[in-house]
Amino acid sequence: MKHFDDIKGFAFDLDGVLADTAKFHSQAWQQIAEELKIPWTPELESGIKGIDRMSSLMLILNSAGVADNYTEEQKEALAKRKNDHYQELIGTLTPDDVLPGMRKFLDELKANHLSMSIASASKNAPFILEKLAISDYFVGVVDPSKVKEGKPAPDIFAEAAKILNADPTTVIGLEDSAAGIASINAADEISVGIGDKGLLHEAKINFPSTADVTLAKVRSHLNW
Ligand code: BG6
Ligand code: MG
Repeated sequence: MKHFDDIKGFAFDLDGVLADTAKFHSQAWQQIAEELKIPWTPELESGIKGIDRMSSLMLILNSAGVADNYTEEQKEALAKRKNDHYQELIGTLTPDDVLPGMRKFLDELKANHLSMSIASASKNAPFILEKLAISDYFVGVVDPSKVKEGKPAPDIFAEAAKILNADPTTVIGLEDSAAGIASINAADEISVGIGDKGLLHEAKINFPSTADVTLAKVRSHLNW
């Protein structure tokens, strides 16, 4: 069992943890679903979190049993259209869109010389970090196009530990998605779930919202 003093660094998911962008992914996909006459459900709302762009599209098409009705080319075109809309939405982000409590938390980690990396499935992550003016906190950002498998596989969080130059067991991963918590656990890191505890029950530590996350609380969960 790890003690807080063993911790070397933190691997952050981005969408829904640092940035209020999960709503934009949802909005952009809902528009596509509506055009395809596929009903939007709570299962889709939480299911698209953490998984990559094409997997999200497949989840949506499969929910209506229509995946086979589309050619690869048509699927690529749908995913591109979603991303074009999504990029319009994230173009409006400002430093005020860092989720509540998170800038303070980043400052706390920095003051305590704990290094940080980004473990996001999103190819738009570097752009969002720039818009939020928080790029400089991180020693590196995992490039999701360079890892073999997306979340829930361990690859993205394993790569985030490498960027931190830390043994995975000394890394704390923060996530708002079930796929992301599975990825952290599979990478043998310590998982922190932010959001609905029912959906994130596999996390080692849970917080109801980003505003609840402080270094003192993380420390108290790990020291006993
Ligand atoms: C994750 C989101 O962070 O990034 C997913 O939770 C999204 O919903 C994934 O599909 C990929 O993002 P992008 O920006 O590369 O389409
Ligand atoms: Mg997320």
